[in-house]
Amino acid sequence: MARASRTFVCQSCGAVTPRWAGRCESCGEWNTIVEEQAESSGVGGGPLKVVGKKGRQIELVSMAGETADPPRLVTGVTEFDRVCGGGLVPGSALLVGGDPGIGKSTLLLQAMAALGRKGADVVYISGEEAIAQVRMRARRLGLADAAVQLGAETNLKDIIATLETGKAPAAVVIDSIQTMWSEALESAPGTVSQVRATAQDLVRFAKRHGTAIILVGHVTKDGQIAGPRVVEHMVDCVLYFEGERGHQFRILRAVKNRFGPANEIGVFEMGELGLQEVPNPSALFLGERDGETNGSAVFAGIEGTRPVLVEIQALVAQSSLGTPRRAVVGWDSGRLSMVLAVLDARCGLTLGGQDVYLNVAGGLRINEPAADLAVAGALVSSITGNALPSDCVIFGEISLSGAIRPVSQMEARLKEAEKLGFKRAILPTSTARQRPSTGLALTEISDLAGLVAYLAAGETRRPRERRSNDL
Ligand code: TYD
Ligand code: MG
Repeated sequence: MARASRTFVCQSCGAVTPRWAGRCESCGEWNTIVEEQAESSGVGGGPLKVVGKKGRQIELVSMAGETADPPRLVTGVTEFDRVCGGGLVPGSALLVGGDPGIGKSTLLLQAMAALGRKGADVVYISGEEAIAQVRMRARRLGLADAAVQLGAETNLKDIIATLETGKAPAAVVIDSIQTMWSEALESAPGTVSQVRATAQDLVRFAKRHGTAIILVGHVTKDGQIAGPRVVEHMVDCVLYFEGERGHQFRILRAVKNRFGPANEIGVFEMGELGLQEVPNPSALFLGERDGETNGSAVFAGIEGTRPVLVEIQALVAQSSLGTPRRAVVGWDSGRLSMVLAVLDARCGLTLGGQDVYLNVAGGLRINEPAADLAVAGALVSSITGNALPSDCVIFGEISLSGAIRPVSQMEARLKEAEKLGFKRAILPTSTARQRPSTGLALTEISDLAGLVAYLAAGETRRPRERRSNDL
């Protein structure tokens, strides 16, 4: 009789090792390796059985053939549809990840209710909440009348058997994949092998029946919790729902999309009545700006296909600690260190003894290198006490030499700024051919020292006694 073999699986990346170790060799995470029973069915990474049958010949076709664009299930929650690339694709699998409590269940309940109201057959399976809880939330959101079939279940076999009876639904939400379990495996729900096996079965169901499957997955900030990472490879589309706890803004971001542009964002506001769409995020992110303040710069960024203006705030203050603080919200702290190092080495602005705080207003997370110059602008403005003009946007990538590199889609950035009433822009020097056509007054900057000189010169005004410090 075959002995059930034991394997050790990293709960962060899913790598399988024959023995336990404190650190996963493949992803470098600590304390993520857990002992699991190897599956006997061959599902999800277990040893495949060799079947003594000759392979079937498959048909190879040319690349030039005509294939229509996939049809779309448009939910009517416009921000959600746009992030999906124009609506859900029948037969596709989508993963919605995010921290617990960020609003995934709320978003999907709203999207499914909107779809149900349009007459589509939709099912919402909750493995975390009882029917009464889901109903209560639906009632509070004013969605109780929407045609959504609810189920509270975690046994995958029962769920699939239920979905397979009668006409397959147009869309199914599984909330969440970590609570699902398959009888075929002995490991606990939420372990990598359970998550992988149940997700695989659900993806297979989606492909076979043309149903759009939406999987919800919890991810903690440090990636300690098992699962969704291994699911990312199986699904067609991965969306992350993010936002800062204290802020009401929530951002839905596509990090992978086989049917549309990745990096697209949708912006929502969490309120009394659930998530409200924010069709014009720039106006919202800039809405709370308090005029001309030092340490503030408006970055003209691009999120997916959409230009978004956000305020970047910096505060540089004398430190009372031996090791000064570097606190960053909404941006990469490594990138901040780089900008500080370039300011030091190329412009002589030494901030070794100063605390530096950097904040992207509104809870947005920026990944673009194009924000370098805006960050530098906010920092230098805080150091000199001179504010950037309040009707000015700024963008550009900083290289280690201190040179400012041009960035993509300059025209789209400037157009958005113009639309929102900005009059000027600080941007990288470009050749005549690259130069964007715009109605804004442009200040081209070729290196970081140029920005420092600009801010130190009379171009900018001292705001009404609002200096954080004098150097
Ligand atoms: P939820 O959708 O349950 O989060 P997740 O499924 O990602 O764990 O959202 C929970 C949070 O959202 C909770 O803290 C309360 C808040 N919320 C509101 O502020 N307003 C609302 O109308 C709803 C439904 C939730
Ligand atoms: Mg939930």
